[in-house]
Amino acid sequence: MLRGGGEGVDSSQLVVQNSALVMVMHHSRNGPTGSQPRYLASTAVLLVEAIKLVASSIFATADIRQSNPTSSVSETLRLLHRSIFAPDCWKLILPAALYTLQNSLVYTAISNLDAVTFQVTYQLKILTTVLFSILLLGTSISSRQWFALVLLTFGVAMVQVAGPLGAEGWKDRLTALIQGDIFVEAPASSAIKGFMAVVAASLISGLTCVYFEKLVKDSLASVSLWTRNVQLSFFSLFPALFIGVLWQDGAAIARDGFFAGYKPIVWLTIALQAFGGLVVAVCIAYAGNVAKNFAASLSIVVSYAATAILFRTPLTMPATAGAAVVLLAMYLYHSRGLPRPVLLPMSNEGRSE
Ligand code: C5P
Repeated sequence: MLRGGGEGVDSSQLVVQNSALVMVMHHSRNGPTGSQPRYLASTAVLLVEAIKLVASSIFATADIRQSNPTSSVSETLRLLHRSIFAPDCWKLILPAALYTLQNSLVYTAISNLDAVTFQVTYQLKILTTVLFSILLLGTSISSRQWFALVLLTFGVAMVQVAGPLGAEGWKDRLTALIQGDIFVEAPASSAIKGFMAVVAASLISGLTCVYFEKLVKDSLASVSLWTRNVQLSFFSLFPALFIGVLWQDGAAIARDGFFAGYKPIVWLTIALQAFGGLVVAVCIAYAGNVAKNFAASLSIVVSYAATAILFRTPLTMPATAGAAVVLLAMYLYHSRGLPRPVLLPMSNEGRSE
């Protein structure tokens, strides 16, 4: 389902995946651990990259088989190796390092903030992505589209503050947001750490997605998306292993083991994140970054509606208004504006004297 360029299918997969990941990840980081230590985020980041490497290699091999149906297994593997370690593969070193940092920052943020504050602040990436598209790609955005993006950010924030995750006490949350005190629930020091992490992750997300989009689109005719993704995951393994696992958490791993604290919910988090990464790759390559972010925003509206229907949670006015604002923003961004009325000169015959 991930192969090919079906924008609708890929975006809708992102909608579902995005909705689930934050809740599952938050629970995996903050839920009860019993007598076990909490699992180390660095090990999860490494495993996600390893899974994506295997999955992308399978898809890249399938692409090669498709264009060379008569090649033997050894010939296919030789072609795969040649395409992965092509002379320009070094171009993936920078995005690999940045994505690894972003993924670690997301764990830090989600471990130190409540799910709603994390989700709301992470919406910054909608704006950072557009900003870097303008700076690096020379994309031009009309004033109506800017307005739509700001509306989108506000709409998503409203749904999250007053939606199912934050349904309890949404008035307190809104007041806290308006007063600039968003750290209502966590101890101040860890909330500031989480907040800085999510802001940094949003900046890195915007920069890296735009860089990756340009790289992939410039060479899509000669290098497949999956080869690029193999390169990306391959180079991500180095910072994830040497900086995250060995340098940062080496002592804890030597003491408790690599898989200490691993429970089914941790594996679910890892699976969702790996799947999400592959979907993001397809969205970036075939639909573009802005569309990818719109899909992620829509996911928040969908999960709001789905939670209300499935769990019979009450719909709140601000969240429903936020959902409407998100839909309006999507319409405004993609429409070419309202059709202008055509003013025809009135003929004398039509006039009633
Ligand atoms: O959209 P956002 O910045 O939140 O998503 C980035 C996520 O997608 C990161 O976890 C990154 O590792 C993953 N990704 C990927 N393959 C790509 C592009 C992004 O796995 N080609």
